[in-house]
Amino acid sequence: MDKYSRGKATTASEVATLTLPDAKVELPIRIGTENERSVDISELRSESGYITLDEGYGNTGACSSEICFIDGEQGILRYRGYPIEQLAENSRFTEVAWLLISGELPTQSQAADFSALLTEYELLHEGLRHHFEGFPPDAHPMAMLSTMINAASCYHPDLLELTDDDHLMEAAAKLMSKVRTIAAFSYRKSKGQPIVYPDPALSYCRNFLHMMFSIPYAQYEASPTMVRALTLFLLLHAEHEQNCSTSTVRMVGSSGANLFASVAAAVCALWGPLHGGANVEVMRMLEQIQDSGASVREIVDRAKSGDSFRLMGFGHRVYKNFDPRALILKKAADDLFSEMGKADPLLQIAEELEEIALNDEYFIERKLYPNVDFYSGIILRAMGIPRNMFTVMFAIGRMPGWIAHWREQFHAADRIHRPRQLYIGPTKRDYVPMDQRR
Ligand code: CMC
Repeated sequence: MDKYSRGKATTASEVATLTLPDAKVELPIRIGTENERSVDISELRSESGYITLDEGYGNTGACSSEICFIDGEQGILRYRGYPIEQLAENSRFTEVAWLLISGELPTQSQAADFSALLTEYELLHEGLRHHFEGFPPDAHPMAMLSTMINAASCYHPDLLELTDDDHLMEAAAKLMSKVRTIAAFSYRKSKGQPIVYPDPALSYCRNFLHMMFSIPYAQYEASPTMVRALTLFLLLHAEHEQNCSTSTVRMVGSSGANLFASVAAAVCALWGPLHGGANVEVMRMLEQIQDSGASVREIVDRAKSGDSFRLMGFGHRVYKNFDPRALILKKAADDLFSEMGKADPLLQIAEELEEIALNDEYFIERKLYPNVDFYSGIILRAMGIPRNMFTVMFAIGRMPGWIAHWREQFHAADRIHRPRQLYIGPTKRDYVPMDQRR
């Protein structure tokens, strides 16, 4: 792997002047390679005593990064400079993983070596396999995944302190490969079915489908369209800059915590319904529409009514235009259904919902467009992946992005992440003995 070189934001000649009630502070303006402008407030508190307040970090750049560029207004997503549409059209998931982690597209020999590593590491230590026996039958696969990633690190103590990039790439390959095996094993366990071992002759995506769906004496044969749909799903989920789970990787990693621990924490962050769990909520919503017999128009009206109900799979913190991933996934869903020769009634409901919402003033005004989760659940369902595995699938896809951010931070030797807060609790008060409390 090429030696890592860190990009730098340029410092503009202008400064921002912040006028406070009791001080005036000059703050440097830093400009990214895509001309994004930021005000560097790192010295604000030491110079003025003030902190900035930005609840939910909606307008806070927590780091400088070279990995992913998003222009939410224009619906642009690029990995390491490459447009997502070009990557989706031309590359394999493992190629994109290499790109994200190393910074460059792999040469033929790098791609072959990386694939060979993924194959070499695909088995779980038999001791680790026995951990699955300890979970109750209905354990959630996300809980198992997070637990097993930490457990896996116990079998590879040499990877807990990484020394250089080659060592890091070995850890990355082990993590990506074993996570796929762990995910498939957790599914088999939850179904009470025998575990199917990985087949070294198969590609990353095909091998996953084999471990999920082959049964003894009956090899599962995935069609090229099915493998393509899985490739697209993983590739489109591989990276998305400072979202909740990736920020978690950076936050945990900044304490010096190892790669496995940082990624296990990210899995937990991803589990939430407002993040990785959203495609599950989309499917639930579509099924409710189907079962209740309510019209799509009624559901759209409910989402506009101001009660807490939202149209799941619509809206994004960053995209205020079409999520480019949603467009690609919609096409993949169409291809899959045309190959299967039958349409999913939920896809028809989704299309009707999209049509009505996109022409509705409420959604237009607020710039609420379908996001990646709107179609991803439908694709996973068509592959036969059960709903409680959807977020696990997202985690397998996001693994390269998490590793890339962990690596970037590892090389940057960042300070520990430690946000401040505006305290709004009680002012000083004296302790009251228990017998005097009311
Ligand atoms: N349905 C109806 N109204 C909505 C929706 C929606 N899905 N999303 C936002 N709004 C309204 C919201 O009520 C508010 O209206 P008003 O200005 O009248 O109060 C306005 O749009 C702005 O909403 P917000 O909550 O300030 O927007 P946000 O940027 O904080 O939230 C979001 C982004 C993704 C959490 C939100 O759009 C949402 O809850 N969407 C549904 C859940 C979902 O699909 N999540 C997956 C996100 S993409 C996957 C990922 O990257 O992890």
